[in-house]
Amino acid sequence: MNGYPLILKKGLTEKETEFLKYLIAKGGPELQDYKEFTSIVDNLEHTDVEEFRENIVTILNKNSLIGHAFVKPFGYPGDFNLIYKIYQFDVSEDPRYTNWDIFFQNQPAANAVRNRKNFFVEYCKNLALRKENAKVLILGSGPAEDVNEFLTSYSGDNTISFELIDFDQCAINFSMKKNENFNGQITYNKINALRFNSYKLYDLIWSAGLFDYFKDKHFTFLIRKYFNCITEDGEMVISNFSTKNPTRRFMEVIDWNLNHRTESDLFRIASDANIDKEMVSAEKEPLGINLFLKIKKTSKSLIPIT
Ligand SMILES: C[S@@+](CC[C@H](N)C(=O)[O-])C[C@H]1O[C@@H](n2cnc3c(N)ncnc32)[C@H](O)[C@@H]1O
Repeated sequence: MNGYPLILKKGLTEKETEFLKYLIAKGGPELQDYKEFTSIVDNLEHTDVEEFRENIVTILNKNSLIGHAFVKPFGYPGDFNLIYKIYQFDVSEDPRYTNWDIFFQNQPAANAVRNRKNFFVEYCKNLALRKENAKVLILGSGPAEDVNEFLTSYSGDNTISFELIDFDQCAINFSMKKNENFNGQITYNKINALRFNSYKLYDLIWSAGLFDYFKDKHFTFLIRKYFNCITEDGEMVISNFSTKNPTRRFMEVIDWNLNHRTESDLFRIASDANIDKEMVSAEKEPLGINLFLKIKKTSKSLIPIT
């Protein structure tokens, strides 16, 4: 012994390697393979991740959804394009990737992303019912498919105007084109949500798929900053992946790292931002994988937070 701690590298077993080769050969796992594949992923030691990636390297390119998340063609994971493909249940027609894409689309996390869009659409329908000319601010708007779905499906008399913020010009261009039928109802801002300043007030400040990338200190900072932009009776709703996300390990293995949080983490962060706990609640989409921190401004809380 030389006195150095012994690092045990388990490595993939021959059976696991053979199984991965078999999956690659047939363009990804089929339903009957999901359990075995997921078990390999969930039991990978930190030191086995590289070896695992080498075994599936032929799909780790932007032509597969898994590869898109891994290579990050726009410089960050979960870009507007990937999120849009999740909403569309997009699957490659190239047989090398088809089953991999179906597997990806069937992951609980992908279903939770689709659920959170539905949550937003329902929220906006209710908002339009109770408020004339409501104003909504969206932080990290991405493809704005959620906005598009609301505007396309809503048939009531009250309009909602949307102000979108995204720091990626490609996301802004994409969402502008997608929503060109709704000119006049949407304004676009290419800016970092940490830097945006507004003197307007909004009935809803919504953010999905953004705060999971922030550390607690930025999360707290943004709550304080945007709390002052909510109308009386307005609300801030922020989604965050739960620590119970069953797809978490798979996402980490393909280098898609999020700050998963519990409801109590979200309440603690709101408290750190000096938000009165009576104004704070939490909800989740049907799978319980995307949590929503809700902060409702009441007349009691009209003193600006500094
Ligand atoms: C995962 S997507 C979510 C898009 C959309 N909210 C949805 O749920 O469909 C995150 C978006 O946030 C944007 N984004 C990431 N960090 C940002 C920041 N600091 N300021 C503004 N936008 C940001 C990205 O460009 C991306 O379009």
